[in-house]
Amino acid sequence: MNGYFITLEGGEGAGKTTVLKSLRNELQEKGFDVLTTREPGGIDIAEKIRQIILATEHTTMDGRTEALLYAAARRQHLVEKVFPALRKGKIVLCDRFIDSSLAYQGYARELGMDEVFSINQFAIQDCMPDLTLFFDITPKKGLKRISSNKDRERNRLDLEEMHFHEKVYEAYQLLVEKFPERIKVINADQPLERVEEDAITTLTRDLKEKSIELR
Ligand code: TMP
Repeated sequence: MNGYFITLEGGEGAGKTTVLKSLRNELQEKGFDVLTTREPGGIDIAEKIRQIILATEHTTMDGRTEALLYAAARRQHLVEKVFPALRKGKIVLCDRFIDSSLAYQGYARELGMDEVFSINQFAIQDCMPDLTLFFDITPKKGLKRISSNKDRERNRLDLEEMHFHEKVYEAYQLLVEKFPERIKVINADQPLERVEEDAITTLTRDLKEKSIELR
């Protein structure tokens, strides 16, 4: 596949969804063909799975069921949307991907990062991101940000205790250590315009280093 696959990761309230739009605009202005999407979701079947996973009334959902549903949504999203775009040479910007499963289900739910990686390997067939931007902000500050945004929908994972979000944050630090080539850290604990600037600079540098020509 000759496209370029970029994922955005971070805990709740890290600002990645907003930054994704600026990155898309920036890349489009430079002449790239860009597809933006999100997980879980992005296509009809995966959006339906998203509703099942995130419904606040599904309090009895087993951790492994949750991990398998994320992986199933991921698989369908890749096949229907991401693979075709990468084959056409597009830049794909995806809000969350496998690192979310490793952090939330593997580490915070304590299912094991290796175990969760292996069920995901079945789903993704080696399609790892070329670049991942991790938006770094402590859960306390991130959750404070979302609590002041009244329009944001609250999902089942938002309602987890602080300890869970702390573990998610810890897991991302481990992932950054484990994949230093792929995962670049963006300081998300600054005004949004600065976060956007840093993300654009990091992305542009990465594309240049990998000789993906900016037109
Ligand atoms: P978001 O669209 O607000 O990021 O919500 C998706 C939620 O799902 C968020 O709490 C992170 C969580 N999630 C996982 O736990 N595992 C995953 O693999 C993905 C993609 C998301």
